[in-house]
Amino acid sequence: MATILAIETSCDETAAAVVSHRQVLSSVVASQIDLHRRYGGVVPELASREHLLTIGDTVNEALSKSQLAWTDIDAVATTCAPGLVGALLVGMSVGKTLSMVHQKPFLGAHHLEGHIYAAYLEHTDLQPPFLCLLVSGGHTSLIRVEGCGQYRLLGKTRDDAAGEAFDKVARLLELGYPGGPIIDRLAQQGNPRAFQLPEGNISLPEGGYHPYDASFSGLKTAVLRLIERLKADQVEPLPVEDIAASFQRAVVRALTKRAIRCAADNHLPAIVLGGGVAANSELRQTLTTLAAERDISVYVPSLKFCTDNAAMIACAASDHFDQGHRSNLDLGVYSRLPLEQVPQLYQPASH
Ligand code: KG4
Ligand code: ZN
Repeated sequence: MATILAIETSCDETAAAVVSHRQVLSSVVASQIDLHRRYGGVVPELASREHLLTIGDTVNEALSKSQLAWTDIDAVATTCAPGLVGALLVGMSVGKTLSMVHQKPFLGAHHLEGHIYAAYLEHTDLQPPFLCLLVSGGHTSLIRVEGCGQYRLLGKTRDDAAGEAFDKVARLLELGYPGGPIIDRLAQQGNPRAFQLPEGNISLPEGGYHPYDASFSGLKTAVLRLIERLKADQVEPLPVEDIAASFQRAVVRALTKRAIRCAADNHLPAIVLGGGVAANSELRQTLTTLAAERDISVYVPSLKFCTDNAAMIACAASDHFDQGHRSNLDLGVYSRLPLEQVPQLYQPASH
């Protein structure tokens, strides 16, 4: 297995890492959360500018912490999709330049494939096929993983992603940004049965509900109506902990029941949790407990590898490298790119 230096700048974290044989030698994340907090969300232009300012030091720190030299690095990998185009361009320009200067092969990387691979960093026994429940700020998907670059989408949210729902509900409750960790913390002091909220069911024309797809925009609207009703009834202060706990319970139930059913229906022996929302304490615990009842194993990355980082990108790129995959230096960046199109990022190595 290869030694890869990877760069990740798809959203609001500037990250670089060195990974060798799926062992993390260094992983540096420069967070921009403080910069964006006052705007209540990520401002793309500010993100790009901050990446430019931070990326040099971040890459240098990753290499120096790995205690390796450029001669030890087999290839440079950089996230090229999906994400904010301006932000991706910063990482890609630096990654390509480093690959040229140090004469290393270059690999573009898919951000969501990185989130899937985060689980391999710490679980050496994990083997495909498995189901990945990928829950981030922009995506909520159930993905059948057959192997490196081999993915099939089995379920998704039809509107807001799970992380987006956490962030929007936190905004409704005026809790700050990013909402996920704050709601997670408040929910621990609240009553999850205080309020009944919808679990994102999607009706089918022939009756019943879609087994794997979900909708979170209705849940967000239900929270808005609840807050309006409580305010109209002059309930003060708002029972923020109870609302957070009830909302989180609805999201966790919606995600876990679909993931477990999907794994069971498709005879997949394991579920891998990935993406920023995988850091949610109730989701981690509930999925692990309920899946065990169905003899399904659950693999959960540690918190630092759930949210955006470059170690997961290096891990995915390392598998592609071992399969002889390389990217052209004229590879572009893509704000959207389905996981099924990962193979298009690569060409076989020329010998
Ligand atoms: O994967 P990620 O770091 O960035 C994207 O690729 O989108 O995910 C960020 C999302 C945000 O919406 C954030 O609120 C959510 O992950 N998040 C959480 C938790 N930690 C981060 N959501 C729920 N509970 C958490 N503990
Ligand atoms: Zn992410």
